[in-house]
Amino acid sequence: MTCYLVTGGAGFIGSNFVLYLLRAHDDVRVVNVDALTYAGNLENLCSVEDDPRYAFLQADIRDAEAMAAIIEAERPDYVVNFAAESHVDRSIEDPGIFESTNVGGTVNLLNVCRAAWEAPDGGYGEHRYLQVSTDEAYGTLSLEEPDAFFAETTPLAPHSPYSASKASADLFVGAYGDTFGMPVLITRCSNNYGPYQFPEKLIPLMIRNAVHHEALPVYGDGLNVRDWLFVEDHCKAIDLVLRKGRLGEVYNVGGHNERANIDIVKTIIRLVSERLGDPEINDGLITFVEDRKGHDRRYGIDASKIGSELGWRPETTFEVGIERTIDWYLAHAEWVESVTSGAYQAYYEQMYGHRGAAADA
Ligand SMILES: NC(=O)c1ccc[n+]([C@@H]2O[C@H](COP(=O)([O-])OP(=O)(O)OC[C@H]3O[C@@H](n4cnc5c(N)ncnc54)[C@H](O)[C@@H]3O)[C@@H](O)[C@H]2O)c1
Repeated sequence: MTCYLVTGGAGFIGSNFVLYLLRAHDDVRVVNVDALTYAGNLENLCSVEDDPRYAFLQADIRDAEAMAAIIEAERPDYVVNFAAESHVDRSIEDPGIFESTNVGGTVNLLNVCRAAWEAPDGGYGEHRYLQVSTDEAYGTLSLEEPDAFFAETTPLAPHSPYSASKASADLFVGAYGDTFGMPVLITRCSNNYGPYQFPEKLIPLMIRNAVHHEALPVYGDGLNVRDWLFVEDHCKAIDLVLRKGRLGEVYNVGGHNERANIDIVKTIIRLVSERLGDPEINDGLITFVEDRKGHDRRYGIDASKIGSELGWRPETTFEVGIERTIDWYLAHAEWVESVTSGAYQAYYEQMYGHRGAAADA
């Protein structure tokens, strides 16, 4: 049986990854370790909480003692680090927590894994550590060169405190591989979308606001370009890299699907309006707001390495993925309201009498 320790597994991509692992493999144990910040929601995992192959432990990846105790007790084959502060706007307001969680937390996790895995002969056995990173670590591309893409060899040149913290963490992960021979891997993925994304990010925010006839705030001229990938495709890529990737390597993951933010917003307006039969949901709701500071213009990913080495390709087209995403949000209005209102915590405590087992329990 393969044991995965997934940090940040109550967040958007982490919870999709936990659900994916339990669907994809029979013979697994999946241990989800999450501090449950505002972005972590155990409701995402209600469907598997009675699954004997799944366990949740509440802990902070910066807590060396707690993480060491978990690794010692669970003895995971794989550690996948999703845990992070992930919202660029928040990183502009408060960079410190991004440094603390994304850099300090990662270094702590590396230390704990190294101490647990390094055998007296210096070998690490079959263990693997995978750092979930982002294309934002590469910085920005220009709109004038649509054929330029980020490759794994592109130098890291982050601009926001968020991307700087992710790039820093990546450098530490690489350094632990080079210096201590740790069995590390890094994936750098483009923008994800799909179920369970906290409605502060573009796609779920726009769906929510459109439903409520609220303004749809678009930064600057709306022409900033992102490469969008359906979250399940990202989960499959991570699992593949974890099992078959070459140690010490970085793998880019992308959707081959670049779109300007304004086009994403207009697509959402059209589809939500059609589904609800509501003509008042229209482009008139779009409000252009002052641009985000240091706003990267374009991200474009060259994902040919993971394609040629491991055979990964995105399976969900944007046309299919965005419809699935909108339908999911329309069918889960209560989830949206509870995670945005803070009612989530009260809900969980009322339902289950606790927020998950303490790490040392
Ligand atoms: N969302 C994207 O489009 C995207 C794209 C590429 C890479 N990534 C990376 O993927 C990872 C997950 O992103 P997401 O969008 O799911 O983020 P998210 O904000 O939805 O989830 C983050 C999770 O980490 C947990 N967490 C935060 N601090 C913690 C700590 N100190 N200890 C333990 N848990 C903690 C939160 O409770 C939450 O459950 C991040 O590392 C992010 O940088 C995200």
